[in-house]
Formats: sequence, structure tokens, C-alpha cells
Amino acid sequence: MSYSIIHDASELVIGPANRAAETPSDDPTVESPDADGSPDPPDHPVVETESDAAIVLDNGLVVTTGPSEEVRREYPIENAETAVDASGKCVLPGFVDCHTHALFAGDRSDEFEAKLAGKSYQEILAEGGGILRTVRHVRETSEDDLVERLREHLETMLAHGTTTVEVKSGYGLDTDTELKMLSAIERAGEDHPVDVVPTFMGAHAVPEGTDADAYTDTVVDDQLPAVAEQGIAECCDVFCEENVFSVAQSRRILEAGVEHGLKPKIHADEFVRLGGTRLAAELSAASADHLLQSTDDDVDALLEADVTPVLLPGTAFGLGGEYPDLSPYREHGVIPAVATDFNPNCHARSLGFAATLACVGMGMTPAEAILGITSRGAAALDRDEGVGTLEAGAPADLVVIDGPSYRHLPYTYDVNVVETVLKDGAVVVG
Ligand code: NIG
Ligand code: FE
Repeated sequence: MSYSIIHDASELVIGPANRAAETPSDDPTVESPDADGSPDPPDHPVVETESDAAIVLDNGLVVTTGPSEEVRREYPIENAETAVDASGKCVLPGFVDCHTHALFAGDRSDEFEAKLAGKSYQEILAEGGGILRTVRHVRETSEDDLVERLREHLETMLAHGTTTVEVKSGYGLDTDTELKMLSAIERAGEDHPVDVVPTFMGAHAVPEGTDADAYTDTVVDDQLPAVAEQGIAECCDVFCEENVFSVAQSRRILEAGVEHGLKPKIHADEFVRLGGTRLAAELSAASADHLLQSTDDDVDALLEADVTPVLLPGTAFGLGGEYPDLSPYREHGVIPAVATDFNPNCHARSLGFAATLACVGMGMTPAEAILGITSRGAAALDRDEGVGTLEAGAPADLVVIDGPSYRHLPYTYDVNVVETVLKDGAVVVG
């Protein structure tokens, strides 16, 4: 057996401590940690850790974890193919970024300045800026250039600990450019250690010169069949928002996506409470994302339908700092996934920074934020087999940070604390 070992770690994060804390319970009085409906943080550990720990990897998978001394007796360092001394450091599962628009072209830094001067995101979009501006750039950019751009971002993400990332199309808004984007997403991921999950998002905005109803027809009748034939996309996402796609249009698109084998995801109730959260529940979507305006009842419906909520604190931060309320999730004992939403409007690739914002802006505990960017991110992508955990049998995707506990990830937000990254058991950073 040609194993690798990471040994003498101050702390090893294995995964969620309490499965009941991850899935809604039928009888919240029995299993929910906050059965009294209190919005307080859970009063029990939500993350399973081991101190002075070691982890053994073989064949791309986690073999075992445990106290370093014990593990080293059974798997001596001298016999290991690779040995990493993690003294004074913390080992975590590779991070899962379940919501990004990481493939784009052009520069929208002037919109950052316009927003600081008081312009709203929707005003910029209504004037043909925002998403529509990026669409013009992406249409003009060759597929090879797009591949190159995404690879650069994947490198940065990997260096910050991300080992699985979802990337959406949606800056094409016509069949050819949407297919070009999905092809670029596939190619960028092919020869890169980061696992890339492609999502079709033809319904990201209504292109100039048409209206939402007519464009919905194009997405359903032209784009979706072509995307299904191309066979790259795994999920289908819609921007369900006032002046973008209505609930009825979003339902049509997501249902058509399901018919073509694509898992539904939805940008729901971000600026206006239109009903996207309820639609996600009705369709049993893989995830519902943003959720800034969702009511407690909307969130109840979402969690009862077992849809994974995805919160995007970086977007909230960039748009002025109105963060979603954690109370309804805590009442259900559910930890939302946390993602970067990396895009030209939210120019941040680091999930460590998203975790900081989840703590400081939304009041998550560091442990909740860690689960948000690992196992909960995997849930939002319908990934099982232990992705986002370091349980025995899980993929050997892991991160070593320069700090003795997981708290150092959200705690340090000026420099990158990720020192070493392993993907499928191989050292890819550090
Ligand atoms: O999730 N809200 C829609 N889509 C992105 C923004 C994309 C853009 O502005 O380019 C989001 O925030
Ligand atoms: Fe988004």
C-alpha cells in the first residue's frame, strides 16, 4: 500500500459533528439543536475535530484519521510515499465553492465606483451595464481566451483552498455563446486539479432587443435542447428577480431543464421578494441562492422541501452590507452553504474571506462557516461520497492552513493562510 500521511496536525476537521444539524427534522423537538426556536448559535459542537491528529490517504481517498501517535504506529512516516508535517497547523476538507460566475471577460471596476457614488445594481443593469456589459465582452472573446481566463481564476481559487467549484454560463444569452461558455468551462476544468461543476444559466438576464417572455421561449426552445445535446452542463440556474425573470418564466425554464436532465438551481429573492424561494421548494431544487428578502415562512418551505440554502455574504458586502438573517435556519437546525458568487460585480475568489464575512456580517460561528464552505457547499451541488469532509472513504481533497485551529481561516482576513492543498491525494499547492 503506497499511502500518504499528513501527521502531527494541531487540529483536523473531519466534517459535521451532528448529521441532524444538517438536515431538517420531521420532529424538531427531538433532533433540532435549537428546538425552542432560538436564533442563538447551536450550543453543541457542529464540527467534528481531532487534536494532535493524522490523516492517511491512498488511491485518491481518505483511509483513516485519528490521534497522530496511533495512526503513525500503523502507518509509519518512513514508509509513506508523501509525508506532510502539519505541526502547529490545521487540516481541513478542501473547500467547495457552490456558486460562481467565474467565467467572464472585460472590466467592470468603474461600476464599483458608480455603486459607491450611489447607483444601484439594478439601475446599472437597466442602463445596459452590469451583466449585459459582460455579455458584450464575452461574445467578442474567443473560446481559447475564455479558457485561459478561467484557468487563471481556478489557480487563484486553488491557492486559497478551493478544490471543487461550480461555474455558471450566462454571459452569452444566445445559443452559440452559451455553448461556447460551457465548452470553455469544461476545457478549463479538464486539465486542472480543481473539480469544475458546469451550470447553464442562459436565463441570467434578458438580452437587449427582446423581452423576458420572448427570451424565455428562446431559452426553452433553442438553448436548452442545444445545451443538453452538448452534454456538458449539470445544473440549470435562473435569475428570478423583478425586471428579470418572473416566477412563471423561471418555473418554465427550470422545468424544461429538468426534462433535459439538468438539476434546478435558482437566484431567489435577492432584491425583491418575488417568490423564488417558494419556487425552489416546489421544484425540489438542488439549491436556492441569495435569499436576502425571503421571509421566515419562505425559508420554512425551502427547508421542509430539503433544498440547500446558499448564502453569499461577499455579494451582500459589496452591495452595501445587508446580510440575510440566520434565525430561520437556526430554528430548523440547518446550516446554509456559503459561497463566493465570484463575478464582475463581486470580485472575490477566496472562500476564506467569504467565511470571514459569514461570521462578521451574518453572525455565523466559525464552525458553521467552515461547514458552509465544505460539506454544505457539496450538498448544494448534490455531491455525496463525502465531498467536503475528511471521513474515511471521502475524496482526499484537503487543505493545510497556517494556524492551529479552523478558527484561523475566518479569523485571518488579510493574507492567505492556505499553505498546502492536496487534490485526490496529490499535493497541488505548497
Ligand atoms: O449572483 N444576480 C445575478 N447574478 C450575479 C451577478 C452577475 C453580474 O453582475 O455579473 C449574482 O450576484
Ligand atoms: Fe450568482
